[in-house]
Amino acid sequence: MPNILLIGNGAREHALAEAIARSEQKPRIFSFMKTNNPGIASLSAKVLLGRYADLEAITGFAVENKIEFAVIGPEDPLNNGVADALSRINIPSVGPTQSLARLETSKSFTRNLVSKYHIPGNPRFRVFKVIDGVEAFLNELEGIVLKPDGLTGGKGVLVQGDHFATPQEALNLCKQILAEGSSLIVEEKFDGEEFSLQCLCDGKTVVGTPLVQDHKRRFDGDKGPNTGGMGSYSLADHSLPFLKPQDLLDGLEITRQVAAALLAETGSLYKGVMYGGFIATKDGVKLLEYNARFGDPEAMNILPLLKTDFVEVCRHIIAGTLDQLKIEFEHKATVCKYVVPKGYGLPSDHPDAASSKAKIEVGHVGKARLYYSSVDQKEDGLYLSASRAIGIVGIADTLAEARKIAEEGVKAIKGPVAYREDIGTDALIQKRVDHLKKIRKD
Ligand code: GLY
Repeated sequence: MPNILLIGNGAREHALAEAIARSEQKPRIFSFMKTNNPGIASLSAKVLLGRYADLEAITGFAVENKIEFAVIGPEDPLNNGVADALSRINIPSVGPTQSLARLETSKSFTRNLVSKYHIPGNPRFRVFKVIDGVEAFLNELEGIVLKPDGLTGGKGVLVQGDHFATPQEALNLCKQILAEGSSLIVEEKFDGEEFSLQCLCDGKTVVGTPLVQDHKRRFDGDKGPNTGGMGSYSLADHSLPFLKPQDLLDGLEITRQVAAALLAETGSLYKGVMYGGFIATKDGVKLLEYNARFGDPEAMNILPLLKTDFVEVCRHIIAGTLDQLKIEFEHKATVCKYVVPKGYGLPSDHPDAASSKAKIEVGHVGKARLYYSSVDQKEDGLYLSASRAIGIVGIADTLAEARKIAEEGVKAIKGPVAYREDIGTDALIQKRVDHLKKIRKD
């Protein structure tokens, strides 16, 4: 009976806890969480609440509970060196060291790595520490993307057309970013359709999992501010309706080359998840960014479909033997819809902003799966926080059925909440297909 340490408190970690709990090895889960996620707690033998920067508390909890290995869900503990601290006491992790997690935590590191090792997929880009040269480079680009160099929770990227209109406005934003002390990456903007390719990696072998498309905008029709992700879908054939088979192969090849480059550059094996945010464009597949973890919500699309024992998958990642394991996923479609406080993503003076402290009731979600995210379980019930509250997932043979199951599940959450109705609909998917067809001139 292995004892496994799970770090993280979101819906992604709830899905991870469920995948671990399904193992035939009958593992015992020990959860270290920032806040008490009732779903994770219900699957855990023991819970410790604490900060992801408290390495002493995490390692102490691991030693006390004779942990075989840790699974690190979010980027913050990776950035804080939790895998390094556990490794120093001989506890391996599924989740890279602080240095390797730069794949996500330093956008300049990854852009420079891809460029240095001549890996395809990069846009035209430059990294700036001072404003000199920024204006000239902005004027060279047809479309502009600005990225502060660090963790931004998916909300720090500024895109021309969404966040600013002209190169002059971009220049003012660049000055602000640099004044805040961050380095700045200025990139060429791509036009295309985005997809998430979450790969498992033992340092040498890279294994792809079913493709997923996330929806970052807060409102239906891809309107409103960017969020951490309002929901996502995947298809039974593990592809996406707007992609060609070559697109997946290209994303996988880029990721394989990046894993090899990480080893060549750092001398260390990357053990964990390499989640590539890619975009299919008229010139093929391009790399938007990597994350050093599963996606949230995307983890909820793929982990429930995993047929291979997840504890075995983790052991092979740690042992460096992923090439010897057949990893299989059920051929089902999935739709994940995030239930969020009505005020989520809106300015703090918006009338709906107060919804983030409200109590909610969770009724019967029918055939849907429910994954708790940022909720606060108090003695008198369940409360919303400022962030995404509950992921509801429908799984079925077809996308239409999966969406229906997710919709029915969402309706069981009562309170001042909202969600995106359009995720997984034919109309939205057709819009994506038509868009890519148009720019690829297929
Ligand atoms: N789905 C976006 C993220 O996990 O960063």
